[in-house]
This record gives sequence, C-alpha cells and structure tokens, in this order.
Amino acid sequence: MKYETPLFFHVMRYAVQADRDVIDMVSGNPDWEPPEALREGLHEYADLESDQFQYPPSDGLLELREEIAARRGVDREQVIVTNGAGEANYLAMARALERDLGSEVLLTDPVYPYYPGKTTMLGGTQRFVETAEDGQLEPAAVREAASEETACIVVNTPNNPTGAVYPEETMAELVAIAEECDAILVSDEVYDHYDLSGEFASALATESDHRIVTNAFSKSLAITGFRVGYAIFPPELVENAKSRHMLVNVAGSRPAQYAVAHALFETGPEYYEANRELLAERVDTFTDALDAAGAEYTRPDGAFYVMARFDGYPGTLENVERLIDEAGVAGMPGEAFGSSREAWLRFALVTPRVEEAAQRLAAYFE
Ligand SMILES: Cc1ncc(COP(=O)(O)O)c(C=O)c1O
Repeated sequence: MKYETPLFFHVMRYAVQADRDVIDMVSGNPDWEPPEALREGLHEYADLESDQFQYPPSDGLLELREEIAARRGVDREQVIVTNGAGEANYLAMARALERDLGSEVLLTDPVYPYYPGKTTMLGGTQRFVETAEDGQLEPAAVREAASEETACIVVNTPNNPTGAVYPEETMAELVAIAEECDAILVSDEVYDHYDLSGEFASALATESDHRIVTNAFSKSLAITGFRVGYAIFPPELVENAKSRHMLVNVAGSRPAQYAVAHALFETGPEYYEANRELLAERVDTFTDALDAAGAEYTRPDGAFYVMARFDGYPGTLENVERLIDEAGVAGMPGEAFGSSREAWLRFALVTPRVEEAAQRLAAYFE
C-alpha cells in the first residue's frame, strides 16, 4: 500500500531552500507566545525526582485527564490524552472503522489532507461532500451521501482551510445522521479557541454514543511541538481505543503533559482572548490588502487561514513554488485540500508579516 503524505512539509522545505527572503504562510505553527505558566510548568518538571521521569499512565496524567473531563463535561474515563490531535483523529477513525459497520469515510471537500491519508492507511475508502462556497456544510448533502456503508463522518470546526464555523444546528444534524446510519461522527475541534464568530458549537453539546470529539493544546496554547492532544469517546468505544493508543505509543510524553496541566490550571481566559484579537487584526490587515489587490478571498470565522484566488493563477503546487521564488510568499496550493478549491491558495496568518505578504502579493499580481 502506498500512503499519501500531505504536501505541507514539501512546501515548507521548498520555502526554506529558496534563494530569497520568503514570508512563511504555510504552516499552522502559531508565532505567538505560549502562556507563561507553560514555561513555569516545564521548569518545575525539570527539578522533580527522577521517578517522575518514568512512564505516565498510558491514557494520560490523571490530573490532566481530570481537568479535560471537567472542562468538557464528560467522565474522565472517556478521555484519552494523545500525541496531538493527529493521533486523536487516527484513534477515532480507526475505532469507527474497526466496528465493521461499513468502510466508507465521509469527508468534506475541501478537506484537511491528513483525513484522506489516514482513511487510506486504515483501509477505508473516502467519499467527499462538497461544502458551500462559504465553507458551510449542508447537513442535507451529508445525509444524501451517507449510507449503511458509512463508518464515519469526519468534520472540522472551526475549519482548516475554509475558516467556517459550523452552527449548533449543523453539529446536531451531523450527530443525528451518524446515529441514523449507525456510524460515528468524528469532530475535530482543534481550533475551538480561535472562534472569531462566537458561533462555535462542539459536537459534545449533542449527547450521543455516536460521536467522538478530538482536540489538542497544539494551537490553543501555541505549542504544536509538544504533541499533547486528546480524544473523548463514548463509554462503549473507549476501551479499544485505549488499547490501540497503548500498543502504538506505550504512553505519551510526561513532561509535555505535566506542563500543559500546569498551564491549564494557571492560565485565565485573557490569554486566549488576546490571541483571538491578534488573529482578528491579522484577518483585517490581510484581507484589506487583498481587497486592494483585487483578489477574491474567504474571510474566516475561525482558525488561522485565509483562502485567496488570483485571476489566471490556479492553486497548483507549481504555482505555489513560483510564488515563493518570484513573490517571496509561501502559501499552500488549494489542490492539496481536494478538488473544490483547486483555483485557490491558502495562507496561514501565523506571521507578523501579513501586511507585507499581502503587499508582495498585490505587487506580484498587479
Ligand atoms: C484540522 C486539524 N486537525 C489536526 C491538526 C493536527 O493537530 P496536532 O498538531 O495537535 O496533531 C491540524 C494541524 O494543523 C489541523 O489543522
């Protein structure tokens, strides 16, 4: 079997090797600071007795699982601390497929490319449902595509790459569809702290044995390198997922979990608020400059990304490489996210140089 590896790292490498200054708008790595308490937690950990450097419980440090469970209103036995949202999504999709109630995975188009890659790796088949122009997902379209072959429906809100935030009715409908066809809704909510619309609704709000919620601290605490995420399973699905997590990883990283737990205990809502404000300012700055350049774009309701379309310049990998070499701006090709946004480019607002980037784009496409 040949696995599909997402293009992100290829584009990042190309940008780094370019023979000029390039503004990196490829990665989803926040350029803002983690909370102060995160660093404190790490320092504190370094001075603990060495028995604290040994295996943590496989499903995660107890105080971290308890804190996650309390925040999300679930039983701590439903929580598995994972190696980022990446592993959480893998465990969730694997758990849905191993029920042997269908092998189809319903995905949106555009899609976060790791989901189709994981589907292939897990022996499933992809079926795509196109989102509306504004990135919203029509439950009726999902219902039409769903069948008894559907093992799971994977959605992401706030969305990468479209910036859409699905309203509560959509989330409730998606859970209902999963129930109707005895499938599992996997809701990846890794950008939940970057909801700029106030409309974010977690799938957890709809009580059901047919949904798994995945998340991570990668984005919310600006620590994509720490690799601490989690999945919340219905009680009857959690045990196999814990075993898979244990067989693959033994356990997660203890210092990272310790520091995250400390950060959660000590960080108030103003930290998250400040990051949202920063992001909202960058959305304004970038889209104003795109307006001036006459480009078409999506204004995100959440997450880190703006999609833009420039006349006669489709979002192919070749064009992205040309943009790096000739304009000094690195984005992602729309074609990396499925077929519906092939004409588009995706730019991540995780650099203080968003205005300069937009000016470079405007000058290039003039
Ligand atoms: C939608 C989505 N899910 C999951 C991830 C991966 O999260 P993590 O770094 O916690 O594995 C990303 C990272 O960009 C993402 O955009």
